[in-house]
Amino acid sequence: AATALREERKKPIYQNGDDEYADLDWDNLGFGLTPADYMYVMKCSKDGAFTEGEVSPYGNIQLSPSAGVLNYGQAIYEGTKAYRKEDGKLLLFRPDQNAIRMKLGAERMLMPSPSVDQFVNAVKQIALANKRWVPPTGKGTLYIRPLLMGSGPILGLGPAPEYTFIVYASPVGNYFKEGVAALNLYVEEEYVRAAPGGAGGVKSITNYAPVLKALSRAKSLGFSDVLYLDSVKKQYLEEASSCNVFVVKGRTISTPETNGTILEGITRKSIMEIASDQGYKVVERAVHVDEVMDADEVFCTGTAVVVAPVGTITYQNKRVEYKTGDESVCLKLRSILVSIQTGLIEDNKGWVMNI
Ligand code: COI
Repeated sequence: AATALREERKKPIYQNGDDEYADLDWDNLGFGLTPADYMYVMKCSKDGAFTEGEVSPYGNIQLSPSAGVLNYGQAIYEGTKAYRKEDGKLLLFRPDQNAIRMKLGAERMLMPSPSVDQFVNAVKQIALANKRWVPPTGKGTLYIRPLLMGSGPILGLGPAPEYTFIVYASPVGNYFKEGVAALNLYVEEEYVRAAPGGAGGVKSITNYAPVLKALSRAKSLGFSDVLYLDSVKKQYLEEASSCNVFVVKGRTISTPETNGTILEGITRKSIMEIASDQGYKVVERAVHVDEVMDADEVFCTGTAVVVAPVGTITYQNKRVEYKTGDESVCLKLRSILVSIQTGLIEDNKGWVMNI
C-alpha cells in the first residue's frame, strides 16, 4: 500500500514551465506532516567524524531500543525552509545560521556535529531532490527538518557511541490554525520552559515535550499558544512554546535577551536587523510582564511561525488587546522578510542562497 501511495503521489498535478508539482491541495496547507519523497542520512563514525551521507527515499529508520536518543533524549533539531521564487527556482534562507546553531547545540549536548558545509549541502540536496513538494510562491514553503541524534546503544547515562544526522522535509502553510489572523496568547504561571544553566538556549528535543501540558491546557481554553515567564522571578517574558516574542511600544521594539534560556531564533535576529534598518530602536533586554500588558503591539517570530501578530494576551484573568492589521509594525516587518525570502526584493545582506 505504501508503494502504491508513493506511486500515486508521484503523478504530476500541473505543469508550470518545466516544473512538475506533487499532487497536493496547495491552497489548504497547514502544518501537518506530508513527507516529501527523499531524506538525507549521514552517520558519524566512532572517532566522531561525519563522512559521506546519502539521499534515500523517505521512510522509517531502525534504532536499537537502547539508543541514546530514546533513553536519554540526546538529540537536537533545526528548522529551515526552501522557498519558491516566481520564476520557479528555489531559495534557502540563511541555512548557514542553522548549521552554526546546530554546532552550538551539539556542543551543549555532548554530540559531534556535521560541518557547516556538510549541513548546508545536505539541506540543499534535500530541497532540490524534493523540488516538486516546494509549494508555488505564496502558497507555502518546504519545511526542512535537520535532526542530529545519539543513535548508538547505551545503558548507563553517557553520550551515545554513534550519531546519525537526518534531514527530511514537508510542504507547509501557516503554523497556527488561525492562519494569518492574530493569535490569542495565555501567560503560563505554573510551568516554566527553561531555567538558567539548562538547555533552553539550544534546540534540544528535551525542550519541547515538557511544554505540551501547558500548551494543550491553553489550547483547550481556546488560546493559540502560551507565553512563558522566567523560572526565577516569574515576572519576565521568555518565549512561546514554538517561537520568540517581540513587544512594540512607540518606535521601540524590545525582545528578551538571550541569556541561555531563550532560543536564538534566526527569524528573531533577521527581524531585529530589518526593524533597525527601518529606523526602529531595537533592544534586547529583560521585558517585564507588566510592560507586555501595556504594549502597543506584540508579535511572535520563528521559522515555522514566520512573523505572527498577537491580538490578545491573557494574564491573571486580565485580557488586553493589541494593535494588529495592515498598518501594524508586525505586518510591515513580515512583508519585508517574506519578500526577501521569496526573492521579491533584492537581498543586500547575503541571507538568501539561490539553489
Ligand atoms: C521552527 O520554527 O522551525 C521550530 O522548530 C518550532 C517548532 C515547534 C515547529
